[in-house]
Amino acid sequence: MIKKVGVIGAGQMGNGIAHVMAIAGLDVFLKDISQDQLDKGLKVIEENMQRQVARGKLDEGDMLAALGRISPVLDDTYLSEIDLVIEAATENEEIKKAILAPLGPQLKPEAIIATNTSSISVTRLAAVTDRPAQFMGMHFMNPVPVMKLVELIRGIATSEETFSIIRELTAKLGKTPTPAEDFPAFIVNRILLPMINEAIYTLYEGVGSVQAIDSGMRLGANHPMGPLQLADFIGLDVCLSIMQVLYEGLADTKYRPCPLLVKYVEAGWLGQKTGRGFYDYTTDVPTPTR
Ligand code: CAA
Repeated sequence: MIKKVGVIGAGQMGNGIAHVMAIAGLDVFLKDISQDQLDKGLKVIEENMQRQVARGKLDEGDMLAALGRISPVLDDTYLSEIDLVIEAATENEEIKKAILAPLGPQLKPEAIIATNTSSISVTRLAAVTDRPAQFMGMHFMNPVPVMKLVELIRGIATSEETFSIIRELTAKLGKTPTPAEDFPAFIVNRILLPMINEAIYTLYEGVGSVQAIDSGMRLGANHPMGPLQLADFIGLDVCLSIMQVLYEGLADTKYRPCPLLVKYVEAGWLGQKTGRGFYDYTTDVPTPTR
């Protein structure tokens, strides 16, 4: 039974994962490399829980109890206590491997390691750990407290026991698990990211403005957000990483990242988190930039 978890990375995904785990009654260690990152992550968790309280989705007492279950940590001593560690660092294979490789010897022998990678091979990440049978992908969607799905990805060596423990945990979080095979970007991002990339090509080729493309898909296809707004929300660096994994992993030119996406990332225009992407977020209402 999973009772204590570690979440590595207090960013967009990590703080959302810590949020839902703590509400489900688990003790959570939230790990990052700087106090500043931890403080930012905890602030977001508190704001999002407050929002749930304000909408009547969460009791105030339950919020305080959940916040009390989250311990921010900067060192690795927590690893010896936990049943599960979820890596939610930057979507970069080398960074993920550097985080995952040293975990094993510090964990209990039965502890499970999960990665929240949105596209990278689970089998390749498992291979740098000491326990590929107790390793798998647990891919949450953003915003984690709201989105119902968790993709569960087996690496080639993942044991049936590991898979069923994580499937059970997913249900305990109130999420719906969906199994996906270990192919580049799995299911959701294999379908979603090429759509977003195509929206960026549509902008790049001058077929439509940011506003026209987004309202086209919002009103014409009933998407809750237009694809460019969604790209800004996910982070343009993350979108580019996923397209690169698809392009290289499937060796098909249909996944070629749009040059405009590359240029935005090179400029440091990464979307909502940097204040500028396809929209400018420094104005009261986000303003389209093209
Ligand atoms: N934490 C807690 N609650 C939140 C929240 C958060 N971070 N963000 C929104 N909410 C809640 C709101 O409080 C509100 O609650 P009620 O229904 O009780 O009123 C509800 O969610 C809807 O929010 P809003 O009214 O503020 O705004 P909205 O109706 O525009 O919905 C949205 C916001 C849920 C984000 C919606 O726009 C949406 O579903 N967008 C698409 C999201 C999406 O596609 N996510 C997947 C991205 S891909 C991914 O994550 C995979 C990857 O690896 C890249």
